[in-house]
Amino acid sequence: MESADEIIPVGVMLSGRGSNFEALLRKQCDGYFQRARIVCVVSDNPDARGLVTAKANGIPAYAIAPHAHPGKAAYENAVLQILLQHGVSLVVLAGYMRIVGRVLLDHFPGRILNIHPSLLPSFPGLHAQRQAIEHGVRFSGCTVHFVDAGMDTGPIIGQRVVPVLPDDTEDTLSERILAQEHELYAECLKRVTEEPYEIRGRTVCFGPQRRGDRA
Ligand code: GAR
Repeated sequence: MESADEIIPVGVMLSGRGSNFEALLRKQCDGYFQRARIVCVVSDNPDARGLVTAKANGIPAYAIAPHAHPGKAAYENAVLQILLQHGVSLVVLAGYMRIVGRVLLDHFPGRILNIHPSLLPSFPGLHAQRQAIEHGVRFSGCTVHFVDAGMDTGPIIGQRVVPVLPDDTEDTLSERILAQEHELYAECLKRVTEEPYEIRGRTVCFGPQRRGDRA
C-alpha cells in the first residue's frame, strides 16, 4: 500500500452507459474517498455515454478503438500509454466489456478492479442477470473483484445480495442490482485504497493480519 496520505490516481475503463463511473464520481465529489482520485476515463467504444459524462465533469476522456490496432497487445499498449500519462496506479473497470489482456495485467498486477452483476462465481460473462433468472435462483447480486486473466474469476473484494422476485424480468432485476452496484463499488474502492489488505490464495483479507482471519 502507498503511504497513508498519498493520493491514488485511478483510471476508469468503460464501454457504455457509465452509471457506475458516475456513481463513483458523485462519491468523489461528496468527499467520500480520502485517497482515490479518478484522473481519466478510457473507453473501447467512441459512443460510450460515460465519455460524455467524464468530459462534462472535467475528467480527461479517451476513446481507443481496438479494431484500429493490429492486435490486443497493441490496443492495450495504446490504453496503457494514456493511463501512464495520467500517472494511474489503480484501474477500475466500470462496465468494460472486454477481457483484460497481458499488457494491462502485467503492468497493474493486483491493481485492476471489476464489478459484475451477479454473485460470482455464479453467472460470469454476458447477461448475468438473465442467466440468474433462467437458472431460477432466489438471490443474485453483484460482486467487486480483482481482475486476473480469467473471465470474472479474480479474488473477491465485496458482494451484495439482491433477491430475485417471482415476476422479475432481466430489466427489473438489472435495475435493482445496479442500485446496489453503485454503493458496493464505492465501498470497495474506498477499502482497497484506505485499508491495509493482503490476498491469501483467493481470499482478500482486510485489516491487521492474523492468520485465518477474514474481514
Ligand atoms: C453493470 O451492470 C456492470 O456490472 C456490468 O455492466 C453494467 C455496466 O453499467 N458489467 C459486466 O457485466 C462486466 N462483466 P454501467 O455502464 O451503467 O456502469
